[in-house]
Amino acid sequence: MGERSIRVRVPGTSANCGPGFDTLGIACTIYNELELTLRERPGLEFFVDGEGGDNIPLDDRNIVWRSVRYLLERAGMAEKFQGGVIRMKNDVPLSRGLGSSAAAIVAGLKAANVLVDNVFNRRELLQFATKIEGHPDNVAPAIFGGFTVNIVSRGRAQCFSFLPKLRLNMVAAVPDFQLSTRMAREVLPEKVSRQDAIFNIGRASLLVAALCKGNEYFLRQSFEDALHQPYRAELVPGMMEVFSAARAAGALGAALSGAGPCLMAYVLERDRCAGGVGEAMVEAFRKNGVNAKALVLGLDTRGAHIINE
Ligand code: HSE
Repeated sequence: MGERSIRVRVPGTSANCGPGFDTLGIACTIYNELELTLRERPGLEFFVDGEGGDNIPLDDRNIVWRSVRYLLERAGMAEKFQGGVIRMKNDVPLSRGLGSSAAAIVAGLKAANVLVDNVFNRRELLQFATKIEGHPDNVAPAIFGGFTVNIVSRGRAQCFSFLPKLRLNMVAAVPDFQLSTRMAREVLPEKVSRQDAIFNIGRASLLVAALCKGNEYFLRQSFEDALHQPYRAELVPGMMEVFSAARAAGALGAALSGAGPCLMAYVLERDRCAGGVGEAMVEAFRKNGVNAKALVLGLDTRGAHIINE
């Protein structure tokens, strides 16, 4: 057979969740879709609808295609399938801290894996995706869905995914400028103090425990961070003011989403304050000279999946 096709949908993600630098990540109800056709003959065709249509490379440097190739090589199928067609429908904003590159990587790996008859399971896809992305905290929730705790142990990424006991909305305030993860990592110190390490260990542990138990009181104290946000604040004008505005409007807490510049507030669904929190965050950004839009998102519980329709 010369040609095979599949469609997959992958959620956007928010890494770190405040104190969980390079460790915690959550899958959100915003999606990229990929239709992948693999062909035996060489040659690539790309069709992009939505985010990134104007500025992502549409040749063999494309991250979706590189992820497809990565999987085919490991499956021993790279010789058989040398070309293909990539159709993307992207809702996840690019380079904003909502996991667009992780979504692209996971989409390529997932679609290619299905087309070679699921040679690899999700845990193996996590290894490949972490290798390509460099850290697991976006790719893991993109694969598994839910709230995830991620570690790399002896070179192997491990993901514990769970559904919080509270129903949460995530309110993303998405600025109209991009920030590269590379630049946002360059401002971080190589070493941190014991005091800052203790600060984060406490809050990251509290965040996971409070989500598991559904404890609002402790959740409100869990989103602070001392390891990355203070250093990245200079790259996101008004960051602290936007956090304060979100809390004043009823959010449990707020954090830099991944490496930013998007800021993410966490609200209880039953408080019905997500709309107001979004407006308050956008207004606080505006006062700091930043145009932003608000997105109210839910928790994605499935992770990457095939779409049949
Ligand atoms: N944990 C990473 C960071 C996420 O904060 O740099 C970037 O996608």
